[in-house]
Amino acid sequence: MTNSEAGIRPEQVVYCPPAEYREYAPFRDYESAYQNYLKDPDGFWRDIASDLLWFRQWDKVREWEYPFAKWFINAKLNITYNCLERHLKNNRRNKVALFWHGENGTKKIYTYDHLHRAVMQFGNALKNLGVGKGDVVCIYMPTVPEQVVAMLACARIGAVHTVVFAGYGASALNQRIVGSNAKVVITADASMRRGKSIPLKPIVEEALIHAPSVERVVVLRNQDPPTCLLDDFEVDFYEIMQAAEKKCPPEEMDSEDRLFILYTSGTTGAPKGIVHTCGGYMVGAYYTTKYVLNVKDNDVYWCTADPGWITGHTYAIYGPLLLGATIFMTESTPDYPDVGIWWKLIEEYGINVFYTAPTAIRMFMRYGEDWPNKYDLSSLRILASVGEPLNPEAFEWFYHVIGKGKCPLTDTWWQTETGSHMITTLVGEPMKPGFAGKPIPGVVADVVDSKGNPVGPFQTGYLAITEPWPSMMRYVNDDEEKYRSYWESPNHRYYSTNDLAIKDDDGYIMILGRSDDLIIVSGHNIGTAEVESALVSHQAVAEAAAIGKPDAVKGNIVKAFVILVEGTVRTPKLEHDLKYHVRQTLGPIAVPSEIEYVDNLPKTRSGKIMRRVLKAKEMGVDPGDITTLDE
Ligand code: WTA
Repeated sequence: MTNSEAGIRPEQVVYCPPAEYREYAPFRDYESAYQNYLKDPDGFWRDIASDLLWFRQWDKVREWEYPFAKWFINAKLNITYNCLERHLKNNRRNKVALFWHGENGTKKIYTYDHLHRAVMQFGNALKNLGVGKGDVVCIYMPTVPEQVVAMLACARIGAVHTVVFAGYGASALNQRIVGSNAKVVITADASMRRGKSIPLKPIVEEALIHAPSVERVVVLRNQDPPTCLLDDFEVDFYEIMQAAEKKCPPEEMDSEDRLFILYTSGTTGAPKGIVHTCGGYMVGAYYTTKYVLNVKDNDVYWCTADPGWITGHTYAIYGPLLLGATIFMTESTPDYPDVGIWWKLIEEYGINVFYTAPTAIRMFMRYGEDWPNKYDLSSLRILASVGEPLNPEAFEWFYHVIGKGKCPLTDTWWQTETGSHMITTLVGEPMKPGFAGKPIPGVVADVVDSKGNPVGPFQTGYLAITEPWPSMMRYVNDDEEKYRSYWESPNHRYYSTNDLAIKDDDGYIMILGRSDDLIIVSGHNIGTAEVESALVSHQAVAEAAAIGKPDAVKGNIVKAFVILVEGTVRTPKLEHDLKYHVRQTLGPIAVPSEIEYVDNLPKTRSGKIMRRVLKAKEMGVDPGDITTLDE
């Protein structure tokens, strides 16, 4: 970062794709596709949207009243009709929609026909519980096929799902249930992790203590003996499904009706409920899975993200199903029973397109090439990465050791808020390790200074998106101010991504990381404020600040600085208690790896903690402008 600020050009490596890559290339060439988009943006999106089935066509492609956009005005659709019926109609009834591999080796296969039936019947089961169009259903489940069924069943009947990652603790879950006003919670008795079953239902029970909106809990029971259910309030997943009618026609949704809410960590205490709508999201997910990930009809496609994150929503579920692809999904962690498991699964299922995160790649690098080299990875055709910067070393390893130098590797930049890919290197274009790439056709982005003016090549600036796109979020918790805060500041009018970036002479963008108070740990984004408020809720803590400290494997770890309540004794047990407390409130992903006790925290004169100063000190670098620091 310092080099680039000084205008020094990092040494750039470029991989020019061999001729055969052109075969997979989605557009004939990037430049002409991008120019076509710029000439007629509405026409570009109209053509993409026309591949999909709409119950009623739109009157207009978009309405843009800065900063509010609507897409496919007055069009009617149902995303599940496009994920399911569209393929049944195309004679792909018996094609595999989903291969699922359990941690203990159990396999489940759903064809498109099976999935269609399951979704319809579970949709009716939800209706029987009183769930209707617009009602919110919270899904807190492990990565099992029933999770996909539950999400699609909501979309089928017009209910809004809010999926919460099953690694979150009770208080984080409670916040999301209350924030979204969920009427029903769907969970499982337990999830499998490294050979152990981790109970989920007790966490839900605790999360429901102050959650008055919840009327029913649906429990998927996989354990033996099955967990007991509370009469009337808790019901069994398969019992209610089997008791329901089989046929469930798709609810007709307006393009701008809500499809889902997904919480992402905020820079203030409360997580932000990002709302995506039916029409625009469907078009964005379809377009990018087809054109960026290049999933083809005969492929077996694996996105390793958990459905609890946006990558799981768009690229493990909706995008590939919109294409009629065969999805592979597993609850396996990358290192259990050993670090060869993912490569073994690639061989066993003949995975062609593999989409994962830099943190996983960096973990594998530590264990060496012998593990992947034990398996036949020749089915792989395309590799992709998401979640945080794919550093050049990790790029090289992924490209050479896994892809054997033959698979295009696309590093995809996007966010929960953007709904689908924004910046990447399309298959067939020259690849530059360390650089995500260029805005895809359909996206206008730039690197700008705080006044909104583009900065020169290799100068650090803010990554900004200047035109609306179909899968952009529509609201944040129905809070207009929060939504506006992404778009408006006194100096500029564009969507602020809150990421820092540089651009090279060819327009390739390198993402440097967040400019705000989010910490990306193993690709999961955690708000400093969430960790701090969890710590402060412990009786021994007077004040706390959290920062992301760079880590070779996880990208960042959480480090907390804590001011203890007067008279508290600093024992090793206390540190353990504090970590345990964060784990219980927020979940294991947010637990600080390091805790340092301090007497003061650097603050601005207005009393805001200057985490940037703590971070600079931690990393031994210059803290930059500290004129606002209160001495
Ligand atoms: C970071 C995940 C560098 C970035 C899809 C962004 C990335 C945040 C990349 C969003 C990438 C995501 N290169 N950084 N390819 N992809 N990020 O909402 O800081 O969980 O703002 O969405 O992740 O995280 P989120």
